[in-house]
Amino acid sequence: MFDFSIAAADKPALYRELAQALDALTAGESDPVANMANAAALIWEVLPDLNWAGFYRLVGDELVVGPFQGRPACIRIAIGKGVCGTAAATLQPQCVADVDAFPGHIPCDSASASELVVPVLADGRLIGVLDLDSPVKARFDDEDVAGCTALMALLGPRIAG
Ligand code: SME
Repeated sequence: MFDFSIAAADKPALYRELAQALDALTAGESDPVANMANAAALIWEVLPDLNWAGFYRLVGDELVVGPFQGRPACIRIAIGKGVCGTAAATLQPQCVADVDAFPGHIPCDSASASELVVPVLADGRLIGVLDLDSPVKARFDDEDVAGCTALMALLGPRIAG
């Protein structure tokens, strides 16, 4: 078991400490599933107000659910569909303040009110997305986008397989 005690003064500091913890957890491991699983568990433990945290992996021409924390979720998402498929198609983070206002949002857990999806790349190639759901509307802001983008820049090469 790993015990990371992260108590940061502000959100950028929280993400810096989270990145250090993620680096320590994954630096010595080459197995993509192990690294995705520990990343999902760490994010789930450290970031407040989440009801789902995990990965969808690019498998063939669609996204398939990967390691996560939270309730069982939809398994396959077509590229371009929902928040996850839009992030994968555009290679841009999707920060959605109100999921009900996002055209084509795929509801996996009725508790979800806002969502942040960040593409994960390795060597410039899409390998999946990080998906965070919150029961709180407008839970995610630009600092979360920047923080999660930095986390995925670190993790991408370590989950590329
Ligand atoms: N809401 C996502 C689907 C995945 S679940 O939130 C875990 C979407 O619209 O792509």
